[in-house]
Amino acid sequence: MQITTHATQPIAGQKPGTSGLRKKTRVFMQPHFLENYVQAVWNGIGGVAGKTLILGGDGRYFNDRACQVVLRMAAAGGAARVIVGQGGLLSTPAASHLIRKRKADGGIILSASHNPGGPDADFGLKYNISNGGPAPEDVTARIHAATQEISEYHILETQDADLSTPGETRMGDMVVEVVDPVADYKALMEELFDFPAIAAMIAGGFRLRFDAMHAVTGPYAHAILEGALGAKKGSVVNGTPSEDFGKGHPDPNPIWAKDLMDVMMGDDAPDFGAASDGDGDRNMIVGRGAYVTPSDSLAVLCANATCIPAYEGGLAGVARSMPTSAAADRVAEAQGIACYETPTGWKFFGTLLDAGKATICGEESAGTGSDHVREKDGLWAVLAWLNILAARRMSVADIMADHWRRYGRNYYSRHDYEAVDSDRANALMDGLRARLDGLAGETVAGLTVEKADEFAYTDPVDGSVATGQGIRIWFEGGARVVFRLSGTGTEGATIRVYLEALETDPGKLDRDAQEALADVIAAADALAGIAKHTGRDAPDVIT
Ligand code: G6P
Ligand code: ZN
Repeated sequence: MQITTHATQPIAGQKPGTSGLRKKTRVFMQPHFLENYVQAVWNGIGGVAGKTLILGGDGRYFNDRACQVVLRMAAAGGAARVIVGQGGLLSTPAASHLIRKRKADGGIILSASHNPGGPDADFGLKYNISNGGPAPEDVTARIHAATQEISEYHILETQDADLSTPGETRMGDMVVEVVDPVADYKALMEELFDFPAIAAMIAGGFRLRFDAMHAVTGPYAHAILEGALGAKKGSVVNGTPSEDFGKGHPDPNPIWAKDLMDVMMGDDAPDFGAASDGDGDRNMIVGRGAYVTPSDSLAVLCANATCIPAYEGGLAGVARSMPTSAAADRVAEAQGIACYETPTGWKFFGTLLDAGKATICGEESAGTGSDHVREKDGLWAVLAWLNILAARRMSVADIMADHWRRYGRNYYSRHDYEAVDSDRANALMDGLRARLDGLAGETVAGLTVEKADEFAYTDPVDGSVATGQGIRIWFEGGARVVFRLSGTGTEGATIRVYLEALETDPGKLDRDAQEALADVIAAADALAGIAKHTGRDAPDVIT
């Protein structure tokens, strides 16, 4: 066994995005690509000598090979211990929890989240820091700088570590500790939620369906929902992780989780449906005949948090990403607590959670979570909903109707234009940017612009600044449209158009969102010239 040093040179395109480095799997599999990036992570964080790291991924194609490379490079860097999920698996929230619980220095999560997996699909690698959360911008900037300066990497020449059974082995001087990926996470959930109340509701005939989308939450959901809470066998569907997610797109939204939507809108729908994504941090919540948007889900969780043992003392504050609807703001206002508005990306919640300023956070992109870990957490959201349903003894649809009556309804939708030529997407954004100052007072498609800006954020805890985080246009009457380029795509650019309108008239709370937003949609197109710039006459995805 020896450490070898390989001469290498910088590889273009190793800039971490919203959530780590994501590329086509074949790009990651090119000679030196993964090794360069892992070495750059080590270099960017000041080395791994003597450190303890957590390692795991969502089980997609190349997860197993990448795990071995990371282990061999951690050993070469002098890491003391790497704690790995059995089989190389860990959901993102479980990895975050392990980093915190085991007081590790950081962790590597192998995932491209909700992007498809397979040799012709996507792969990703993300570094999380010692609070369990995604590396903040200064760290990712150092990692990126290191990718541009790299001249060599170090790797231990050795056999693969056996990750198939829990226990300790060694790789050189480094301890490789294989752990059950579910056990610690399950114990944490038992602490946070009223499992007996949920189990009693289920024993009383409440039916649920959880779609793990062939991804990493399968084993967690089997153990927690069917095991600990007694849901009928078969309540968890697509519960065995597969390398290509059953050739599916493991993104829990009405389009990619259409099977679940069909069941939930059908005659024999169970009481509650939910799904999670590739690495288990996203969630979709749907009641019988009632889809809950992520923005509304965040608001409902905040409004009802005191039903849940972990939050019975109330919330310190809430935080949402800027494009997320203002539904949570209305709840925060009623509770007299702060609501923080951050740029897109869970990493921006880290300082607020660490400082105790926010207890629950959420994003329109199907992420909700709390201060129990430093990532969004799909199963946490599912259990939070179940706990609330058990406490309030109402259906999901009734909870939503009750919520909107009380707080008003923020009609909301996101329109995505995917794989747009990058130059054309930038031209659309530049066009808007150039007009921002003069927009106020202009009337487009019947709506009058109240104000417009490009979102910049100063972190209230550490003072760090993030600029260029999306173009916001508000209309008189409370509607808003936001334009932003996705930071997670792997092909061209994805233009996201976030549309929102507040309705407080009790007679108008039950409309179809696209219909209720028709004016805002028309105004967005008129303002940005979406059709003209993209050559598309409709979005690829509507959520
Ligand atoms: C990842 C991050 C989220 C973020 C989402 C949307 O899932 O973890 O925090 O909201 O990406 O990113 P995008 O840049 O594609 O809109
Ligand atoms: Zn994810």
